[in-house]
Amino acid sequence: MLESKISRIQRDIETMAQYTATPGNGMTRLSFTEEDRKTRAYICSEMEKAGLHVYTDAAGSICGRRDGVGEGVPIVMIGSHFDSVKNGGNFDGPAGVAAALEVARILHENNISTENPIEFVAMIEEEGTRFGAGLYGSRAMAGQVSNNEIKTFRDANGISLEKALQDFGLDPLKVKDAVRNPEDLKAFIELHIEQGPVLESETLDAGFVSTIVGITRFDIEIEGRADHAGTTPMHMRKDALLASLEVAKTVHDVAYAKGEGTVGTVGIMQIYPGGANIVPGKAFFTVDIRSVEQSNIEDIVKEMKKTLELVSARMGVSVHMERKISVPPIHLDKKIRGIFEQEANHRGISYRTMVSGAGHDAMIMASLTRVGLLFVPSKGGRSHCPEEWTDYEQLKKGVDIALGTILKLAEANI
Ligand code: GLV
Ligand code: MN
Ligand code: MN
Repeated sequence: MLESKISRIQRDIETMAQYTATPGNGMTRLSFTEEDRKTRAYICSEMEKAGLHVYTDAAGSICGRRDGVGEGVPIVMIGSHFDSVKNGGNFDGPAGVAAALEVARILHENNISTENPIEFVAMIEEEGTRFGAGLYGSRAMAGQVSNNEIKTFRDANGISLEKALQDFGLDPLKVKDAVRNPEDLKAFIELHIEQGPVLESETLDAGFVSTIVGITRFDIEIEGRADHAGTTPMHMRKDALLASLEVAKTVHDVAYAKGEGTVGTVGIMQIYPGGANIVPGKAFFTVDIRSVEQSNIEDIVKEMKKTLELVSARMGVSVHMERKISVPPIHLDKKIRGIFEQEANHRGISYRTMVSGAGHDAMIMASLTRVGLLFVPSKGGRSHCPEEWTDYEQLKKGVDIALGTILKLAEANI
């Protein structure tokens, strides 16, 4: 019996779900690792079976191309990412990759020809879990990955992006060859899980994103002085953790006061050397700030810097901060949202317009071409955790909208 479309999507998700570094404790698929390699092999083989011309771009993202009948016409792209956070779920990223694979399979088995070529993509290092910045595959396409990033951004084991690329068989000097010319692109479509509770709580099948929040991320290092925890009086300490906590509190309080969905998070905090009887000599932490208004983000950054200066002067600690990424809020294409709506109406699929508080490759692709981002519901609103789940029937509805939209976009006159 022929495998149903839903079971094919389920197979994609379940197969990719096997390739985790933390079996039994969620999905941990860091870029350019063994888990990445195995997932890649599956995606490439499914793309090949769907008749695509498959290649890895110079940055390491997987691309599968399907020719159109038009001459010299731009490409319509669809895809998402396949790396993950630590101990995350099986849908953040892979849902959109599975959607792209299913669209490719349907076009192939029905011998559908389109005017424009279509490219199916599976991007890498979107989360930034390994090298800190994130959105790397799409930034490489947009020419936003600098040599400095390649040489100096390091993973938790001190391995640079440059070395990781080399070890994976990619040439770091060639990452710039992944850059796409905006004239070669007609549109980019991404299907993603919502990662929040709105669609489920309103019993809706789909969300069409109008705006993606701006995201700014910092790595901050505070150097104090390691001392004996029993003999060093409180007023004579240079406690790097204490200084870091003041900064974390500022980020939290200022983001809270801003409202409008503005958020600020310290998601990693490490103290060194780490001992119950040692005053923390050094601290490393990340700060992730998001808002639909860039001015809110900059205000938080300003207050955070002020606190850093104050604690540095008062406690005698030194501070090093590095902005790892800064992407402004992005408004997505209204025309593509209109096509999503037509496709949903036509199929009786319920939907709403929404803002994305999560970052997506779509926000970078918007600097190159017109972009549409389509959400399917997340059970319990859970994401970036092992409980992440989307019902396959709902995922299939999203795929139907994506397919209809791709077919419309790949007509010459849209
Ligand atoms: C990715 O999921 C992000 O929003 O950081
Ligand atoms: Mn994510
Ligand atoms: Mn994602």
